[in-house]
Amino acid sequence: MDSKITAIAVYAPSKKITNAYFEQIIETNDEWIISRTGIRERRFAEKDEYTSNLCISAVENLLVENKDISLEGVDFIIVSTTTADQVMPSMASQVQNAFKIPNAGCIDIMAACAGFVYGLTIAKGLIAAGTHKKVLVFGAETLSKFTDYTDRTSCILFGDGAGVALVEPSDHPQLLNAVTGSDGSHGKDLYLSQHRTEVNGEPIEANGKIHQNGKVVFKWAIQTVSAKIKELLAKNDMTLDDLDWVILHSANMRIIEGVAGEINYPLEKMLCSIEYFGNTSSASIPLAYDIARKDGKIKPGNKILMLGFGGGLTFSGIIVVV
Ligand code: COA
Repeated sequence: MDSKITAIAVYAPSKKITNAYFEQIIETNDEWIISRTGIRERRFAEKDEYTSNLCISAVENLLVENKDISLEGVDFIIVSTTTADQVMPSMASQVQNAFKIPNAGCIDIMAACAGFVYGLTIAKGLIAAGTHKKVLVFGAETLSKFTDYTDRTSCILFGDGAGVALVEPSDHPQLLNAVTGSDGSHGKDLYLSQHRTEVNGEPIEANGKIHQNGKVVFKWAIQTVSAKIKELLAKNDMTLDDLDWVILHSANMRIIEGVAGEINYPLEKMLCSIEYFGNTSSASIPLAYDIARKDGKIKPGNKILMLGFGGGLTFSGIIVVV
């Protein structure tokens, strides 16, 4: 059984944080942040606004923007997040309860910024197996609650947001072959600790905040993403010319520019959400899709390569026909 994304919707908290905010709390400036990252603004959740709230608001937007869609028959809910309200109950179960969806399997997945595409790949598998017919896939994060505001190399990057895709059976392939993987040897280069104080036998700062080795992740991202785009195209017997758009995880504008240069693809065909949302981890791909859709860029039948990458260091890519 083939599958398709029936609709995508997003939600971002209303509180806008410009680069000027960081000028007050760390030694930095607007020009440095824009030139090194491409970020002008990001959104922060309110104190009492959590990842589950963002998921619920994204579903509300999905229903408002798609009058023909209902939640009736949703039989699986997958939430990608590394910034859940709590470890259990899962965010998926919170969504299930908010909308009183009976008989839905509920799981959260942790693949960091690659998680939304991992979720699509799992949904595709569930539908292909014939066991499920209507799957909600979320990428949702409140990174602002796990940011170390004393670390000027990372705190300027992160923002909050959520996206949700409804995945259903299709009579022709619209979620094409995917690539998934991880290089766990880089575990220490991007982590959000819980109670353990080491990764791969090496000590880490276990303060419940995000830590990253920006330079290592930057280099790894450009090399890995470029190679995986080629692998994904080959797996689908396609070339870059077959694609209408590429949506990479919006980690840093310079990573997107670097990959565009590496694979020789026009930057204007790379859609992103970095400028006004920052790095929203697993929410960044649906946010980029939503911006482009509302700008009228994405047309029915377009072929879009989506590829996420991040903590793990994980990666996951898929080609979507909308
Ligand atoms: N404001 C001003 N200066 C800053 C700064 C800030 N917020 N953060 C770092 N600097 C300084 C550094 O201290 C350094 O100064 P020095 O040369 O005197 O030592 C200088 O700027 C350059 O730092 P560097 O770390 O080389 O910057 P960079 O160009 O590598 O950019 C990142 C830093 C974090 C933006 C970049 O490495 C990055 O984006 N990495 C990938 C991160 C990412 O995307 N992670 C998520 C993946 S899912």
